[in-house]
Amino acid sequence: MGLAEIVRFSVSLEADLLEEFDRYCAETHFSTRSEAIRQLLRSALTAHAWEKDTGEAAATLTIVYDHHRTRLTDRLLELQHRHTDMVVATSHVHLDHDHCLEVIFLRGPAHQLRDFADQLRGLKGVHTSQLVVARTPGTP
Ligand code: NI
Repeated sequence: MGLAEIVRFSVSLEADLLEEFDRYCAETHFSTRSEAIRQLLRSALTAHAWEKDTGEAAATLTIVYDHHRTRLTDRLLELQHRHTDMVVATSHVHLDHDHCLEVIFLRGPAHQLRDFADQLRGLKGVHTSQLVVARTPGTP
């Protein structure tokens, strides 16, 4: 990253909020208030951009789950059939007696792919899940 111009600005806030913020800085070992504010701003802006991202994307969702868990397989299939507009294909590996690895190939608006991944992740019996989103360069 290149050297960016540093600007100063002042912020008005309540004394007790500042006190709480200073405690936060001390507890989380930020060297200065500025460093803490920089990092908090960056993570807020990243989260915001992430949420409103409606651009088209392709993704893989990899999940490992216990197929003995009551109704889990049904729920996973149900969710995928409800979103046939997004689910392009799936690959399934029977890992061992209890566990399955599934890779679900997705395509659609990025925020919808994440919602879908969140729904699957939340199911009881899903051990791990990882969404990898790929954006084509130049897509809005
Ligand atoms: Ni299996």
